[in-house]
Amino acid sequence: AAAGDPNILILPEHSRTLGKPVVTNPYGQPSQYEANLQRRESPGLTRVAAASVSFTPLQGLFGIITPSGLHFERHHQGWHDIDPTKHRFMINGLVKTPKVYTMDDLMRMPSVSRMHFIECGANTAMEWGNVAVPSVQYSHGMLSCSEFTGVPLSVLLDDCGYDKRRAKVVLAEGADGSSMTRTIGLDRALDDVIVAWAMNGEMLRPEHGYPLRLVVPGVQGVSWVKWLRRIEVGDQPYATKDEALHYIDALPDGTFRQYTSIQECKSVITTPSAGQRLQGNGYYNITGLAWSGRGKVKRVDVSVDGGRNWRTARLETPLLSKCLTRFNIDWDWQGAPAVLQSRAIDETGYVQPKINELRAVRGTRSIYHNNAIQSWQVAQSGEVSNVQVY
Ligand code: MTE
Repeated sequence: AAAGDPNILILPEHSRTLGKPVVTNPYGQPSQYEANLQRRESPGLTRVAAASVSFTPLQGLFGIITPSGLHFERHHQGWHDIDPTKHRFMINGLVKTPKVYTMDDLMRMPSVSRMHFIECGANTAMEWGNVAVPSVQYSHGMLSCSEFTGVPLSVLLDDCGYDKRRAKVVLAEGADGSSMTRTIGLDRALDDVIVAWAMNGEMLRPEHGYPLRLVVPGVQGVSWVKWLRRIEVGDQPYATKDEALHYIDALPDGTFRQYTSIQECKSVITTPSAGQRLQGNGYYNITGLAWSGRGKVKRVDVSVDGGRNWRTARLETPLLSKCLTRFNIDWDWQGAPAVLQSRAIDETGYVQPKINELRAVRGTRSIYHNNAIQSWQVAQSGEVSNVQVY
């Protein structure tokens, strides 16, 4: 601050008066000065807002947890606020005893709480061909990370006595009008999948599946079926519309790849990022997020010269599997144009690819699973914009 700053010399009103009483907001709200930080729709992306997406403002968040009210939304047929006393969850198919559970039944069972990221398979979809969006909110904002609480699906499958000889998959079905159904391999279903009712310590918000959703760690968001009403145990993939026709990867030879579920290792610098402006030369903390659907992030490298030289960033704790990892690195900006990039490596040794490496195997007409290295250009003016560097 400058010398003579009235904000330090004059005692403000709030230091001389009584503040507001407790419970003014029984369920707390952010400061009025943070009103610009919002989930936002991309204008013109979809024809109707009920079958659309809102993006998380990654540029304005800290650490790794996404506040529930800023968690991105993706609905195929709008969202509902379902009465939990009337919600029922069924397990049927290749089980000894098909069962219908109430929410009370489920919430009496042994529960777990785990932190995981959820990323829509279509995150960064607009950037396959060329630069298309103005900010990290729109390029990477179909990404959130929360603590989820619920009963492991394995406990419920055991409770119904799934057929250990014949069962190979489960089909998850939502209670909204979209008939959202996804096949999940039995190995995964028995591993870390959760039938969850809580997110970040409170019951799920309606937009995210209240009162029940599936949490499928490391797997694209579409399999995290919201308003979950049924799991069917089967012996082969179901090839439903949301896995045979949608959520398939276009390949350069004109064919499509099905069942690409895992979200591969990816990272992005959230500050400085496109749409922001550096305020003069000097020290900056470059910060961002890294994640992998295959486990923990092992390392993140950062370049300020478009990938010619790399330095290793600090990874902040906690460092959890299939969870966002926050990274930070010091940068002394001396006013010259720069191109900022981050490159994540996960514990399997997989290295996040450059956009041209990804295009060489996937082409340019895909929608899903773009995990390319993101480049942000810093102009001499300090203005940051979205660019693609090969
Ligand atoms: N489940 C149901 N029942 N209906 C849906 O439209 N959308 C899916 C998935 N589960 C969807 C659903 C998609 S495509 C994604 S990316 C995630 O939910 C988004 O979850 P979120 O809205 O909590 O971010």
